[in-house]
Amino acid sequence: MEKPLYLVRMARESALAPRPDSPIVTAQALADTRGRPLRDLRISVTDRCNFRCGYCMPREVFGHRHAFLPQPALLRFEETARLAEVFVVLGVRKIRLTGGEPLLRKNLGRLIELLAALRIPDGEPLDLTLTTNGSLLERQARMLRAAGLRRVTVSLDALDPILFQRLSDSQTEVATVLRGIDAAAEAGLTPVKVNMVVRRGLNDHQILPMAEHFRGSGHILRFIEYMDVGSTNGWQAGEVLSGREILDRLQTHYPLEALPGSYPGEVAERWRYRDGQGEIGVITSISHAFCGDCNRARLSPEGRLFLCLFAHQGYDLRALVRRGAGADEIAGAIRAIWSGRTDAYSEQRGRLATDRPRIEMSYIGG
Ligand code: GTP
Ligand code: 5AD
Ligand code: SF4
Ligand code: SF4
Repeated sequence: MEKPLYLVRMARESALAPRPDSPIVTAQALADTRGRPLRDLRISVTDRCNFRCGYCMPREVFGHRHAFLPQPALLRFEETARLAEVFVVLGVRKIRLTGGEPLLRKNLGRLIELLAALRIPDGEPLDLTLTTNGSLLERQARMLRAAGLRRVTVSLDALDPILFQRLSDSQTEVATVLRGIDAAAEAGLTPVKVNMVVRRGLNDHQILPMAEHFRGSGHILRFIEYMDVGSTNGWQAGEVLSGREILDRLQTHYPLEALPGSYPGEVAERWRYRDGQGEIGVITSISHAFCGDCNRARLSPEGRLFLCLFAHQGYDLRALVRRGAGADEIAGAIRAIWSGRTDAYSEQRGRLATDRPRIEMSYIGG
């Protein structure tokens, strides 16, 4: 059978690095069954974390008996970079490193260097970012920046020191995370975004203190509706505080106005304080699904490709890289997988079977 044109071209050019005039990219736009392009790749580099947030890694499930992935199973940095390079040829413009806690992965700076060297077809660098719990950020921020990371997002669910330790089920002090945020900003990893998952009755009384703390700091605080990810957190709809309610509570103290989205497929709705004290976001996966323009793929620590945060199954790309498959073969496999994508879990929530186990947040990184 004749090879598809893009495979022939890629084989002929043999180099992976896309060129500004690359016909591979311009002529062969990749889209799924709903016409959604592939723009954003989230790479989870470890399934381990030093926190045990109840909604993500409850200690009863992720205790000392839990079997984490063994080191040899993880993609080596060169393997991750090899895959990432192909994703960039196929249209990816943002790469976010996640975990577990990505800063626990040894020598992460080396992976960042490899990814930072990738160039998108117009010669621009990638939007290269990372989501962390902030506990190790103070000591790593400068190294991360020097390696080529452009910005960071820090998860922080409470400012109250006792509540913070209870929610994260850790000994880390909230002050350590706050110093990590400052260190990231000083190192130039900006804008620093701060993610707060809001749960009714648990930390919703922290919404205003968090807003007060980060107003005027230049950091962007985002409020996230608590999602039914994974199979272990015992999610209950009653714990969700909708984006609308969150905004209503904020507005009583700080008048807000909507901002336009900053890029297609953005997860957060953007708002700004009318008094000029900065920007916030709300992420409404439960009350207002954003699957319509979801352009995100997720790569697990051992190289399985997931097309949705709520997916049941992934596609093994590690086998391909480990047996030395060429860029054209890897690209062909990803194209075939993405072209058949139908996922829209948040839109269909409640209408889908709930008995199949879903991937855990700590494995796939949100
Ligand atoms: P920016 O690049 O700064 O816009 O960040 P982001 O919002 O893409 O990434 P981040 O890791 O900060 O995600 C924020 C929250 O949105 C996390 O809780 C994610 O789990 C959630 N989220 C991100 N992508 C998706 C998605 O595709 N579907 C759903 N349902 N939630 C998502
Ligand atoms: N619902 C919403 N957000 C979650 N996160 C982890 N678990 C959930 C959940 N069940 C958030 C983390 C982090 C981001 C990657 O996902 O707090 O900010
Ligand atoms: Fe760790 Fe983040 Fe999960 Fe908390 S939410 S347990 S910090 S991976
Ligand atoms: Fe994308 Fe799945 Fe989230 Fe919908 S639920 S926005 S398809 S990751």
